[in-house]
Amino acid sequence: MKKTYAVITGASSGIGMAFARQLAVEGYRLVLVARRENRLQALAEELKKSGTESMVITADLSEKEACYRLMQQLEPVPVGILINNAGFGDCGSFLETDAEKEMQMIDVN
Ligand SMILES: NC(=O)c1ccc[n+]([C@@H]2O[C@H](COP(=O)([O-])OP(=O)(O)OC[C@H]3O[C@@H](n4cnc5c(N)ncnc54)[C@H](OP(=O)(O)O)[C@@H]3O)[C@@H](O)[C@H]2O)c1
Repeated sequence: MKKTYAVITGASSGIGMAFARQLAVEGYRLVLVARRENRLQALAEELKKSGTESMVITADLSEKEACYRLMQQLEPVPVGILINNAGFGDCGSFLETDAEKEMQMIDVN
């Protein structure tokens, strides 16, 4: 097991979850970040079975305060890798897309 942690935002599904599984295989300890705590806990439990230590941090990264809080929580943690993956996309005609969703996308991404 490596001494440093890989911090993965958006670890509760998709690409972030795949990164978590791969970095666990490579021996990293993990910090799993997203909004859906149940999914992060389930992943942490799964990876624990193969010996990976994970910290679960729930945060809505569209909120500036949550980002600052995350930075504070990570201060004592030896971070080796950051996979800054949390986010989402939207598609369709610009005039027809939901402006609020667009703004939230910019905030998260
Ligand atoms: N898949 C593609 O083809 C593709 C193409 C281009 C770019 N990307 C980008 O790659 C990243 C991962 O994509 P994916 O396909 O794996 O998407 P996904 O399965 O929808 O995963 C997105 C992850 O981001 C997290 N997330 C979303 N909003 C968040 C928020 N406000 N605060 C904290 N976490 C948040 C989600 O967790 P919670 O919902 O639990 O918070 C989830 O874990 C995204 O940034 C996406 O825009 C993907």
